[in-house]
Amino acid sequence: MRAVLATQPGGPDALEIVELPDPTPGPGEVVVDIAAAGLNRADLLQRQGHYPPPPGATDVLGMECSGTVSAVGEGVEGWQVGDEVCALLASGGYATRVAVPAGQLMPVPEGLSLVDAAALPEVAATVWSNVVMTGRLGEGDAFLVHGGSGGIGTFAIQLAHALGARVFTTVGSPQKRAAADELGADVIIDYREQDFVEVVAEQTGGRGVDVILDNMGAKYLTRNISALADGGRLVIIGMQGGVKAELNIAQLLNKRGSVIATALRSRPVDGPMGKAAICASVVEHVWPLVASGAVVPVIHDRLPLDRVADAHALMESGEHRGKILLTV
Ligand SMILES: NC(=O)c1ccc[n+]([C@@H]2O[C@H](COP(=O)([O-])OP(=O)(O)OC[C@H]3O[C@@H](n4cnc5c(N)ncnc54)[C@H](OP(=O)(O)O)[C@@H]3O)[C@@H](O)[C@H]2O)c1
Repeated sequence: MRAVLATQPGGPDALEIVELPDPTPGPGEVVVDIAAAGLNRADLLQRQGHYPPPPGATDVLGMECSGTVSAVGEGVEGWQVGDEVCALLASGGYATRVAVPAGQLMPVPEGLSLVDAAALPEVAATVWSNVVMTGRLGEGDAFLVHGGSGGIGTFAIQLAHALGARVFTTVGSPQKRAAADELGADVIIDYREQDFVEVVAEQTGGRGVDVILDNMGAKYLTRNISALADGGRLVIIGMQGGVKAELNIAQLLNKRGSVIATALRSRPVDGPMGKAAICASVVEHVWPLVASGAVVPVIHDRLPLDRVADAHALMESGEHRGKILLTV
């Protein structure tokens, strides 16, 4: 099979397309012939040598894909050769084939092409598990997602809107403001021009938001807690603004607030909040919203696997809106 590795950490040019032996399915696994793979910000970190795949996972980049099942391992039930699927992966998606635990497979949502389904597994699993399963966002709640123009942000705005929440988001330019508006965001804050804590306070009569999905980490910790309502939940999933910050416990305690930090990639497959349980919950609750058109994958571009370096450079530029896909 053809696959993408970054054997020497570096810029986009460090990515190499190599020939590797085809994977075979172990017990409980299937092999997928890949149609497309989604890019994720963590892939840039892996390329730079900062985010290795979990132990036992392949070094081939790529945390999600879509394609057709081509082999089924021992003990797998419910999937057959020829099924069209999308999958959450620990790694291995930037390739022509990948072996994946069957619990991380999901059917292609109704109405979506096989290629475009590659835009969904990582954002759907991340947003659903953090915002709803962990953050307990409900109808009528106020929700803030930072980075409303990115892969995670474009999906989170639509999902929270579909669930009946009032959606706040931060964006970095007027063009991205317009895009967030189209997706259903109620209050859009340009983080280069406005202070999100002030806007949230103004718009909620000083109450704050119930759930925040944060990609910035250290840089926004204090301000995120200021923007939380009493009993609010701050769920941190990214570290784009650094890893170390000071936490004012009195401020959090007085609000009876929670700060939660999670990662999808390092979770076990099994268990109540494992990858298989998250994928099953996504199929049950999110796929009907995709099939009805209430939530659509926002895809900035689809580039062939040979242009993987261009795809990484595009994500690094920050000029994209939504997901970037590699087609195989
Ligand atoms: N923990 C997990 O399990 C998990 C899983 C998936 C993703 N993530 C994390 O989620 C984050 C988003 O991932 P992605 O794939 O959606 O990446 P992406 O498409 O590259 O989006 C990154 C976003 O960050 C925004 N941003 C940059 N500086 C900002 C600032 N100062 N304030 C607010 N937003 C800012 C950008 O907004 P502008 O373009 O408008 O500047 C952009 O929307 C990443 O940090 C990623 O590592 C975590």
